Amino acid sequence: MEHISFLCFFLGSLTLSSMFGIIQGESPYKYYTWRITYAKMYPGNFPPQFGILINGQFPGPTIDCNTNDNIVIDIINHLDEPFLMTWNGLWHRKMSWQDGVLGTNCPIPPRKNFTYHMQVKDQIGTYMYFPSTMMHRASGGFGAINIHRRSVIPLPYPEPAGEFSFLIGDWYKTDHKILQKRLDYGYSMPMPDGLLINGLQNFSTDRVYTGELGKTYLFRVANVGIMTCINIRIQGHRMKLVEVEGSHVLQEDYESFDIHPGQSLAFLVTLNGPVKDYYIATSTRFTRPTLSTNAILHYDGSTTSVSGSLPPPPAYQLHGSMKQARSFRKNLTANAARPNPQGSFHYGQINITKTIILGNSAEKINGKLHYGVNNISYLNPTTPLKLADYYNIPGVFDLTTSRDKPTPGPMVQGTSVYGLALHDFVEIIFQNNEATTQSWHLDGYNFFVVGFGAYEWSPKLRNQYNLVDAVSRSTVQVFRNSWTAILVSLDNKGMWNLRSAIWHRQYLGQQLYLRVWNDETSLTTELDIPSNALKCGKASAY
Ligand SMILES: *[C@@H]1O[C@H](CO)[C@@H](O)[C@H](O)[C@H]1NC(C)=O
Ligand SMILES: *[C@@H]1O[C@H](CO)[C@@H](O)[C@H](O)[C@H]1NC(C)=O
Ligand SMILES: *[C@@H]1O[C@H](CO)[C@@H](O)[C@H](O)[C@H]1NC(C)=O
Ligand SMILES: *[C@@H]1O[C@H](CO)[C@@H](O)[C@H](O)[C@H]1NC(C)=O
Ligand SMILES: *[C@@H]1O[C@H](CO)[C@@H](O)[C@H](O)[C@H]1NC(C)=O
Repeated sequence: MEHISFLCFFLGSLTLSSMFGIIQGESPYKYYTWRITYAKMYPGNFPPQFGILINGQFPGPTIDCNTNDNIVIDIINHLDEPFLMTWNGLWHRKMSWQDGVLGTNCPIPPRKNFTYHMQVKDQIGTYMYFPSTMMHRASGGFGAINIHRRSVIPLPYPEPAGEFSFLIGDWYKTDHKILQKRLDYGYSMPMPDGLLINGLQNFSTDRVYTGELGKTYLFRVANVGIMTCINIRIQGHRMKLVEVEGSHVLQEDYESFDIHPGQSLAFLVTLNGPVKDYYIATSTRFTRPTLSTNAILHYDGSTTSVSGSLPPPPAYQLHGSMKQARSFRKNLTANAARPNPQGSFHYGQINITKTIILGNSAEKINGKLHYGVNNISYLNPTTPLKLADYYNIPGVFDLTTSRDKPTPGPMVQGTSVYGLALHDFVEIIFQNNEATTQSWHLDGYNFFVVGFGAYEWSPKLRNQYNLVDAVSRSTVQVFRNSWTAILVSLDNKGMWNLRSAIWHRQYLGQQLYLRVWNDETSLTTELDIPSNALKCGKASAY
């Protein structure tokens, strides 16, 4: 069934599905054309600056779609630099060709276009897209992706009266070209200048979110920032968590949420207070000084503007934040994109086939600051790994150079690709011995977040893992001087980027690729190279 419906998508043929007697029609197609420009923009109260716009918009357009929809996006690059868009949290099942990172795709040259063909197969939830090339993301080009359920699948909560998308993130007055130059010269990344909510700052009239007394609204929030964890809270209201990066979680009430770069979640808010206006407050976590910006929740008919004190941020200490992270747990009886309960995959009973310990660090190489994993700072080859693999081009990457555990320095530059077998069940430990909080994202997958702990991980800590109802998501934080453990079932063939979501770290080498492979050449395990694939580097000749 899976096989057949995939063929249908690939060949775009309805006749084929009738041939095989499939009753339901093909999943709908949605088409977009996006012009990427570098133009003057007005982010909040900041002075005007140059930034990356999509069809003249900042943030970019929201993609609202349903599970299994086919999405076709033609991206026309009007920048004076090469460009790629990546779709944070979309799995691209069997099609890492669409992932939009330098390991899978050639960048779109200036004045050229490229059309992405994606299917949001078996996914629901709250996601985001952003540019993956250079430091572009610091100047915009990001937006929300909301995948709604198919009507046949019930939600594990009452249908909300409405939805609000919140893209929150730190922001720099300096544009990405200057930030990038700084990094290229070996200087460290400065602190951001402020926070933006949907591209705006404090109390702009565009930043009032209106709902009706007694009704419940879904707030979808993504941290599109590049550096800092952000806390969000609403004056006088509780927030009921319902979804984390595509997983329906145990619905519990929270005072506030910590959301790390690259992460997203959704919560319900019931407008059950006196009819007036309330603060929606956001502020950075674990930074000094604290940056903040606020929006307004407006009850329909309210004539009383915001008053009283802003809802206070949580204590600076990370204890509470780690406690919150552990409290996010999957609702095993709820379904997600498919009509089977989320708890039907018993990940805790599967034997681990491989353990990889990834240690992050910062080090100077030839006098310039770099970031690395197990003392390898990733260097993007000019030929994308995926193309080198497909055409068997030698000399691009070598599966023997990756390191499965922290390794004494000095840090070196290299192209780390981990060779893994399709259907391996892998344990990854993120070991953070630095004094700052990290955020890690894996493309092509959701993984089970089974443990957070302080100091050094050791095998005996496995007995503290949550092997029953760990949340499954694609981006996870690692607190300072701490570890985070994840389990991932490698069921998606392809070349997948594992990277720091803290963007200057990613840019300066804190990333790697997982090559998930078997020797079977078949469309049932991976789709063929798209006919419009751009060619570059050593693949130009093919
Ligand atoms: C994208 O490029 C292709 C081939 O280069 C061209 O046929 C197509 O019209 C372009 N699309 C747009 C919207 O410019
Ligand atoms: C937004 O408002 C808060 C509270 O009034 C203030 O602390 C913060 O500095 C303001 N931020 C900006 C960017 O104006
Ligand atoms: C779990 O999901 C079910 C739907 O299957 C729902 O009825 C229940 O309220 C949810 N439980 C919690 C604690 O979120
Ligand atoms: C897991 O490993 C244990 C011990 O090696 C073995 O007895 C068991 O059969 C394995 N389970 C599965 C599901 O492969
Ligand atoms: C990197 O090398 C340094 C110097 O040998 C060592 O102290 C550190 O533990 C290594 N870090 C990782 C993550 O491999």
